[in-house]
Amino acid sequence: MSKFLIRGGRKLFGEISISAAKNSYLPILAACVLCDDKIVLHNYPYYTDTESMCKILASLGARIVYLDDTIIIDGASINSSNIESELASQVRSSIFTLGALLGRFKKARVAYPGGCEIGARPIDIHIESFRKLGVKIIEKHGYIYCDASQMHSGSVVLEFPSVGATESLMMASVFVKGQTKILNAAKEPEIVDLQKFLNSMGAKISGAGTGEILINGVSKLKGCSFVPINDRIVAGTYMIATVMCGGDVTIKGVKANHLASLLDKLDKTACSITVKNDKIRVQATNRPMAIGKIETSVYPGLPTDLQAQILALQTISQGSSIVCENVFESRFKHIPELVKMGADVHIKDRVAFVRGVEKLYGASVTGMELRGTASLILAGLVAEGYTTVSGSKHIDRGYRKIEDELASLGADIKRVQD
Ligand code: UD1
Repeated sequence: MSKFLIRGGRKLFGEISISAAKNSYLPILAACVLCDDKIVLHNYPYYTDTESMCKILASLGARIVYLDDTIIIDGASINSSNIESELASQVRSSIFTLGALLGRFKKARVAYPGGCEIGARPIDIHIESFRKLGVKIIEKHGYIYCDASQMHSGSVVLEFPSVGATESLMMASVFVKGQTKILNAAKEPEIVDLQKFLNSMGAKISGAGTGEILINGVSKLKGCSFVPINDRIVAGTYMIATVMCGGDVTIKGVKANHLASLLDKLDKTACSITVKNDKIRVQATNRPMAIGKIETSVYPGLPTDLQAQILALQTISQGSSIVCENVFESRFKHIPELVKMGADVHIKDRVAFVRGVEKLYGASVTGMELRGTASLILAGLVAEGYTTVSGSKHIDRGYRKIEDELASLGADIKRVQD
C-alpha cells in the first residue's frame, strides 16, 4: 500500500492534458460485449477501474490486446453471460455489463454489486426498467438472474435520471425490434459518448444529452475505432487545485461546456478563467472568496463527483458556504479528515456548513473513496507543513498518476510506501 506525502504551499503553473473519462470508458468497455468483431479504443487511461472492467470482459471470454494507450477488444470469443461476485465487487460498474449481456445473449447471471463507500447505491431502477420491457428477473443469493428472451420495445420512464440505468438500458435495447424510448433519461456527456460509440458500431440511437433517448433496434453491430471523451471530473479537480494554491494553469482536452456548472461556481471565487477551443486557463492570485451556496445535482448541475474537491476549496476561502449533497446519501467522509487539518465544517444530514479558515495544517489523513481522497490531496497542497494522505487505491481508480500530474505543475507531492 502506498500513500501520498505532500509539502503544502507551492503555487501551480503550467499546462496539463487530461486523460480519458473513467465514466465514459467503463460503459464503452461494457458495450464491447455487444459486438463479435474487433473494437479499437484509443487513449486508454489504465485506471484500476478500467482494468477491473477489462478483467470482467476477459472472464467472459473476450480477447484483449494492449498497444501503449490503445486497447483492442475482440468480442468474437465471448461465450459466457455470467459475472461472478469476486469480479463484480471490484468495480461497481460491473452492473453496466448486465445490459450488454442481455443485448447479446438474452440472458445473464450477474453478481449484485452491493453498496459502496458513498452510499447504498441500489439498482432498483435498472431492475424495474428491464422488467417493464419484458425481462424476467430473479434476485437470489447475491446474484441477479435475467431472462430477456421475451424482451420487447416500449417506453420506460426512469423514476430518477440514473446514469447507470440509462446506459444499461441503451445497451440492452440495441437489438430489440422496434423503438425503445427512455424517458427522464440522464443527460451526462458520458451518455452522449456512449450513444456515439454504439452508433459507430451501427446502432440507431438518438436523443442522448436530452431527457428522451430513442433506440431503434438493429440486427447486428460491427467493429469500430473510437476515442472516448476526456475526464471532466479530473479537469475540474485540477482547476479547483489551481484556485486553492494560486498560480496559472491551462487544462487541455476538455470541453468547457461540460464543466459549465463548475465554471459558474469558480467565477465567484475571484479567479480568472479563460476558455479557448479545448483549453481552459485558470489564473488565481488572491485568497479565494467563498462561493456561498453549493448544491450537487444531475447534469447539467454541479456534479456530485466534484463536491468533495469544491468543499475542500471552501475550507480555505474567505467567508462561509453551505454545501448540499443531493445525489448520494453518504458522501461526506472526507469532512472529518479535513477537520483534522484545521477546517471548520459542521454536518447536518446531507448539508455541510463551512466557515473558511486562513490556514489548514498538515496532518496524517485517510481517504475513504475516490473523490474524497482527491479533496484531501488538494487540502494537503495548501496546508502548512507536511500532509500524508492514505487511500491511494481509491485515487488510482480514476486518476492517472495524480502525483506526477500535480508535480508537473510544481506541487511538492510524491507517492511513498506505507
Ligand atoms: C455514475 C458515475 C458516478 C457518479 C454518478 C452520479 C459511472 C461509472 N459512475 O454512477 O461517478 O457519481 O453517476 O453522477 O458513470 N440510484 C437508485 N437506484 C438505482 C440507480 C441509482 O436509487 O437503480 C440512486 C443512487 O443510489 C444514487 C443516485 O441514484 O443516489 C445516482 O445514481 P446513478 O446516476 O445511477 O449513478 P451511477 O451510474 O452509479
